[in-house]
Amino acid sequence: MINSKIKGFGHYLPKKILTNHDMSRIVDTNDEWILSRTGISQRHIAEKDELTSDLAIKASKNALINSNLLSSDIDCIIVATTTPDQTFPSTACKIQSCLAIGNKPAFDVQAVCSGFIYSLELADALIKSKKAKNVLVVGAETLSKIVDWKDRRTCVLFGDGAGAVVISADHSSSECGILSTNLFSDGSWHDSLYADGGPSLDQKVGKIRMKGKDIFKQAVTKLSESTLLSLKKSKKTVNQIDWYIPHQANLRIINGSAKKLGISENKVIKTVNLHANTSAASIPLALSSCVLEGKIKKNNLIALCAIGGGLTWGSCILKI
Ligand code: UT7
Repeated sequence: MINSKIKGFGHYLPKKILTNHDMSRIVDTNDEWILSRTGISQRHIAEKDELTSDLAIKASKNALINSNLLSSDIDCIIVATTTPDQTFPSTACKIQSCLAIGNKPAFDVQAVCSGFIYSLELADALIKSKKAKNVLVVGAETLSKIVDWKDRRTCVLFGDGAGAVVISADHSSSECGILSTNLFSDGSWHDSLYADGGPSLDQKVGKIRMKGKDIFKQAVTKLSESTLLSLKKSKKTVNQIDWYIPHQANLRIINGSAKKLGISENKVIKTVNLHANTSAASIPLALSSCVLEGKIKKNNLIALCAIGGGLTWGSCILKI
């Protein structure tokens, strides 16, 4: 039996921080509104010349060091991102070149905020089908570059960052690593959360547009339903979960989905306060920071779940 075990964790956040007070100097907003509606206090913002690949490479280096593996051990690179440096080539290819990983497959996954969960399922399948032994999975975003800085309904919500994991084939008989995943999409919601530009549409990048209330209602239900399905698939119960890490978009969604699942508040990881919504980076950022801080420990059972534009959503049950 092969387990897909997470061997290394790493993350990186740009140095520059914008607080809610800073945001109130950019658009007509205030700390009280942002904090009470979203739970966000601050967000990290990349410099103009700081690209998604720069954040991804720093997080990947940290994950590689933490895994005690060499670049040459990596068999595949998967990067979840909605904000690649360019339309092409992929951000994954830039990581491959910079870290001298060799001529191994490298590609990006576009599933917006669910991209990291989608990538975990792909990595798990590659490992369990013996096509790869060590897969680097990264979630990296510079959303600040595609928010409309004149739209207070969206610009206060997003931040930049990257998280990475190295997932390795493990042949031990004890249960560990990715126990189950579930992925979903419903494209009928494609115009509820989207960028209003693109290479084929208007040859521009576009800005983020969102029908916030519609997404909010979908999020609470879909996150909890998907988590229950993954729990069932891995033959685990809600009570066995040590840590619940939902996509960090809004504290009310995080708490609402935890309540629906019956998970007590002290088991819920909340980083949205400091990171804001970093889309595909939100879960690996939260996971890596909590593991490296020592909050999440060996043998802990973790439920991850995310929802984003598409709509796409999914979940993963994981033993560290
Ligand atoms: O990552 C993908 C998943 N995305 C999400 O999960 C986001 C889901 N949605 C949400 O988190 C929430 O819907 C928001 C945080 C985006 C908005 O919260 P809301 O409680 O749904 O607020 P609203 O959009 O209904 O706006 C309420 C009021 C409006 O004023 P009026 O029309 O009632 O006078 C807005 O104009 O709040 C106003 N408003 C603001 N006021 C101050 C909207 N944005 C701001 C702001 N500062 N930044």
